[in-house]
Amino acid sequence: MIFESHAHYDDEAFHEDRDELLNSLAGHGIGMVINVGASLAGCRATLELTEKYPFIYGTMGVHPSETQELSEEGIAWLREQCFRDKVVAVGEIGLDYYWKEPEPDLQKKWFERQLGLAREVRMPVIIHSRDAAKDTLDMMQALHAEEMGGVVHCYSYSKELAREYLNMDFYFGIGGVITFKNAKKLKEAVAYIPLERILLETDSPYLSPEPNRGKRNSSLNLPYIAEAVAELKGIGSEEVIEVTRQNAERLFRLG
Ligand code: NI
Repeated sequence: MIFESHAHYDDEAFHEDRDELLNSLAGHGIGMVINVGASLAGCRATLELTEKYPFIYGTMGVHPSETQELSEEGIAWLREQCFRDKVVAVGEIGLDYYWKEPEPDLQKKWFERQLGLAREVRMPVIIHSRDAAKDTLDMMQALHAEEMGGVVHCYSYSKELAREYLNMDFYFGIGGVITFKNAKKLKEAVAYIPLERILLETDSPYLSPEPNRGKRNSSLNLPYIAEAVAELKGIGSEEVIEVTRQNAERLFRLG
């Protein structure tokens, strides 16, 4: 069974065929899906998906690029939802300097606040970090994120940085980028990271792997990602699928 550790099935890209697609996953070996909240509305929609589908679990958080919508009231609402049965983590939270809005200081303020939320509710975190390697790590170390644990989603940094996150006992979400020919640095990092620390993810509807690059992504593409990881590790993709499932169940305290 393949464990999808990061998807956004609440996204409007799935409005046309969401039910049909989700109902087809089990037949393709996708047994579990974490639907990741990225805005308050997205969190609300995530909760609805967790109620409708037994194999969907959810996370509550606001993506750095959406933090202008946050207030203490929003945090209080997120906190309440964290106590629901099928909510398993706080995320995705972090820093995104590729998109310059909102300004870094505001992103940092709400990253810190949401890390604090994870600490309060004793949950792991799902980290989003793009073009913000140093600030993300500095904040996570200063705020002792290793005490919450979690996953750096769509990991795209170096092997050297991976060592820092391994020291914090974090997991690494590996997605479609690993199948791209020019992903040299990432392939080096994945070869280095122990399989016991890797989760498979798609970030659907974004970041489709080869050979479907540029198209809408879905969990049906996970076998391409498993295959790419298996190649780097010199093992079969069945082993990658099995071990990454165990990793995800351990991190999200499922099964
Ligand atoms: Ni995402």
